[in-house]
Amino acid sequence: MQYAHPGLANPEYYVPGLPTDYVAQRYGIDPNEIAKLGSAENPYGASPMARQAVADALDRLHLYPSWTAEPLREKIAEVYGYEPNQVICGAGETEIISLIIRAFCEPGGRILMPGPCFPIYHLFAEAEGRVPVLAYEATDRQTMALDVDTYIEAITNDTRIVFITNPHSPSGTWTSEADVRRIIEAAPNALVVLDEAYVHYSETEGYIHLANEYEHVAVLRTFSKVYGLAGLRIGFGVAPANVVDALLAIKTTWNMGQLQIAGAIAALDDHAHLDRTIETIVTGRAYAQERFAELDRFRMVPDSRSNFFLIEILDPETDSTKVFNGLLERGVIVKDGSVSFRGLEKRFLRSDANFKEKMDRLVDGLADLPAGQDSP
Ligand SMILES: Cc1ncc(COP(=O)(O)O)c(C=O)c1O
Repeated sequence: MQYAHPGLANPEYYVPGLPTDYVAQRYGIDPNEIAKLGSAENPYGASPMARQAVADALDRLHLYPSWTAEPLREKIAEVYGYEPNQVICGAGETEIISLIIRAFCEPGGRILMPGPCFPIYHLFAEAEGRVPVLAYEATDRQTMALDVDTYIEAITNDTRIVFITNPHSPSGTWTSEADVRRIIEAAPNALVVLDEAYVHYSETEGYIHLANEYEHVAVLRTFSKVYGLAGLRIGFGVAPANVVDALLAIKTTWNMGQLQIAGAIAALDDHAHLDRTIETIVTGRAYAQERFAELDRFRMVPDSRSNFFLIEILDPETDSTKVFNGLLERGVIVKDGSVSFRGLEKRFLRSDANFKEKMDRLVDGLADLPAGQDSP
């Protein structure tokens, strides 16, 4: 078999957070007793307004949707101060990330990303024969935040795409607008992609306006998180029209179905759902921080502005895989850093912020793990 490039002979795939049913069956636990804290989903479920709009759209299932998802582009343009031709919609942000990699970096070209980072950036780059450059030196090991000066040093003349994730992933830490602008201005020859998947949990408006100010900036958002529509698959990007034109040319023609378009338009007006989700996450995050003070073998990496946070293992006798498995046996699903994030190694896990009772399950589960050995 002749592949387009050798990387496809033995590809690496995304490792998602474990599903509830799998853990319930494997460990014989009632599914209702499982704390699912590994996929950063919405604890309240989908936006009720989106659910209604999706139900109403069933009557249109036999009709082809607009191939550009035009009604949704118009809505997004209106909400965020853009023109519809500056908006691209996709089956989740992940589809748009893949389109950007194909359209703005040639095979063999270099794509800069923080190390560790959201794995889709490097997995797609490799699957498309591009070269991901993970700037591990740009992660401050104490705060796990992006060190902007070091990140800027990693930008070279032949860097074609520069990813910024804000809130940062996997730490959830925040990068200021001035620092984001410094990165953008240090990369005039690249397309700078600002991934704002979790921006609502920062309780700011984010920096979506920056794609209107620079010719080489795209800002991406998703409906999978605060709108609770991870299962519907909707994301979007705003960028200069010539950037969007190229993405339209390579996307699958009808990449957005009737249900996605209808659900997303309605979700953008569901302020009540948005507000209560943000309130719950912010409260749960602060509560988890308080409760972590009780633990001496684990530390919550502070200052997350997202709906997840890192847990650092302080006990040298154990590691993230042992802790991950011990929590699973106690009905708590998190992410094993060493499996889910390239370069994070065995000292970290990532947990969602969620309802207080779920945070109790996490902290109580960690406290219950026997010191320095595999869980019983
Ligand atoms: C940093 C980051 N960006 C983008 C996404 C993409 O989400 P989706 O494809 O569901 O829109 C995720 C999902 O986990 C993420 O963590």
